[in-house]
Amino acid sequence: MNVHRLTVFKAYQLLKENGIVYVKDKSGYYVRPRAAVLEQTPELTISPRGYMNNLLSRIQRVPVAYQFSQAVLDPNLLPNLYLSECAKKVFDLYPKVLSTYADVQGDVELRQSIVGYLAGIGVYVSTDELLISTGAQQAIDLLAAVMVRPLDAVLIERPTYSAAIDIFRKHRARLIPVDLSADGYDLADVEAKLSKYRPRLFYLNPTFQNPTGYTVPIQQRKQLAELAEKYRCLLVEDDPFRDIYFRQAPPPPIFTYDTEGWVVYIRGFSKYAAPGLRICAVAARKPMIAHLIRAKSLADNGSPLLNQKIFLHSFSSQRMQQHLEKLRTALYMRKRKMEDVLAPTGWEWSSPGGGFNLWVKLPPTISAAKLLEASLKHSISFVPGSICDPSVEPSPWIRLSYSYLNEVQLEEGISRLVELAESLQNM
Ligand SMILES: Cc1ncc(COP(=O)(O)O)c(C=O)c1O
Repeated sequence: MNVHRLTVFKAYQLLKENGIVYVKDKSGYYVRPRAAVLEQTPELTISPRGYMNNLLSRIQRVPVAYQFSQAVLDPNLLPNLYLSECAKKVFDLYPKVLSTYADVQGDVELRQSIVGYLAGIGVYVSTDELLISTGAQQAIDLLAAVMVRPLDAVLIERPTYSAAIDIFRKHRARLIPVDLSADGYDLADVEAKLSKYRPRLFYLNPTFQNPTGYTVPIQQRKQLAELAEKYRCLLVEDDPFRDIYFRQAPPPPIFTYDTEGWVVYIRGFSKYAAPGLRICAVAARKPMIAHLIRAKSLADNGSPLLNQKIFLHSFSSQRMQQHLEKLRTALYMRKRKMEDVLAPTGWEWSSPGGGFNLWVKLPPTISAAKLLEASLKHSISFVPGSICDPSVEPSPWIRLSYSYLNEVQLEEGISRLVELAESLQNM
């Protein structure tokens, strides 16, 4: 092929790292049989004590051509050149940016800018009431560290974001699931659980939820804020998908209905703008914000200043805002494509008004676990619903993310998945 020996060597190393070939000492490189790729990811069934994320990352480590398991943005949907120009500009503007610690609470210029952004969605806070964390995941962990003692009750949606289950388990919380449907919660059930278990907090993702894409209606948002106050239970409102709406902006955050500081608002930006920067803003009233700052200082003493400055200069620019408008349209088209291919199957879902995921119910003739096993062998991945269930029940639901693949790949991948499912009927 007219390439240097080293290039060939590097190619073999890559194939080896991805589990596609293996090495026999003093013999050579051999192609692994396809099934062996799966064997590298043992225990595709869940043990109740196992961390959901372990299982998820095992699924995600299998190299596949059709990746529906990661709810992450396709990097091609972001203005990469523009983002790198912003990074260069930051080095000119702040020549000492790499020689400086950031404020533990977050760069004040960034906090000022985020105060303006949040006011636009009805979240009125001062710079003192904001903390910058390294991603929303860290924000959930900091809150759990501040609030949860072993065996404390914590309400959590069912289904929910699987890493949140792991975080609360790590802090040894007693998880009390609250069912979430396309119409929101059963508030009588929520109140009964608040009264019976007296939970420390309720973790919720009420807008274009991961994994379901469901949005809690406005009336319930007001009532939840009242219930939180009545039962002195902190609502942890995780809201990373708010700006990814397709036609209509979602209802205001629950935080906007809170009058006594019983809601903490987590606004991550990894799902929307520059995921690699890991920027998230946490809004909380005193004294909660002071506790969170102390926890943040223990965790990492502040998020990297460079990332904060790059985010500040990119996110607030007109160019980025125009780009983000286009992002919504691109994601809407991808969602439509996925729905079009699934339409003839008889599988059930409720079409989300935003977010990255379709939460799909398989017919009783198809087992989600068997479909996953077969899909991975055919280079397709998705998330089985049981991973998102805090009580780890087997589930007929699966999560298909439409955020990563373009429309052509998406059509091919979903068509193949449907064919596979049909071939597995009643097996
Ligand atoms: C509901 C929810 N919260 C938090 C996160 C984590 O976000 P980050 O990447 O900002 O840590 C995710 C990512 O999938 C998510 O879906």
